Amino acid sequence: MLKTTDIIDEKEKILHQKCKEASFPLDKEDINLINNSIEYLRLSQDEDKAEELGLRAGMGLAFPQLGKLKRIFVISYKTEEGNFIEYTVINPKIISYSNELVYVEEGEGCLSVNREVEGIIPRHARITVGFYDTKGNYIEERVREEISVAFQHEIDHLDGILFTDRIDKKNPFKNMDKMRSI
Ligand code: CO
Repeated sequence: MLKTTDIIDEKEKILHQKCKEASFPLDKEDINLINNSIEYLRLSQDEDKAEELGLRAGMGLAFPQLGKLKRIFVISYKTEEGNFIEYTVINPKIISYSNELVYVEEGEGCLSVNREVEGIIPRHARITVGFYDTKGNYIEERVREEISVAFQHEIDHLDGILFTDRIDKKNPFKNMDKMRSI
């Protein structure tokens, strides 16, 4: 079981470095880390469980946040109906993206950023992304809205970029009127 203290803070250098491609087959440690990350995210989105276990709510976790510079991340997103949309994403590449930009109205959050951050981040409303699953099968998928934002946030992690790096320092709400909020 992953603990909140296992998640590396934004101050650490490793979160600002570029990750290397993962190779197949994945080793046992990687598989464990993937499974534990999904478990953490699922539980963290259950208010009672999160409080009981001291988890911060999150829907994405990338390997560098756990101290590994490998191009792997997981997403677990709880829908309003209470179902989970989940992805394990290895060596992703954005193939195409919509010109339409969106931003998350309440601001993006990150399990590595333990503070309030003001500002918006322009993200593509839709992206087509190619990636590998844990068995090494290639998958191509068009993702939209929250999931598209989550993919872009996590892919940034693999390149050593935090969401805070994408907020305009002088004008944190720059071009807000030109984008749709989600
Ligand atoms: Co993050």
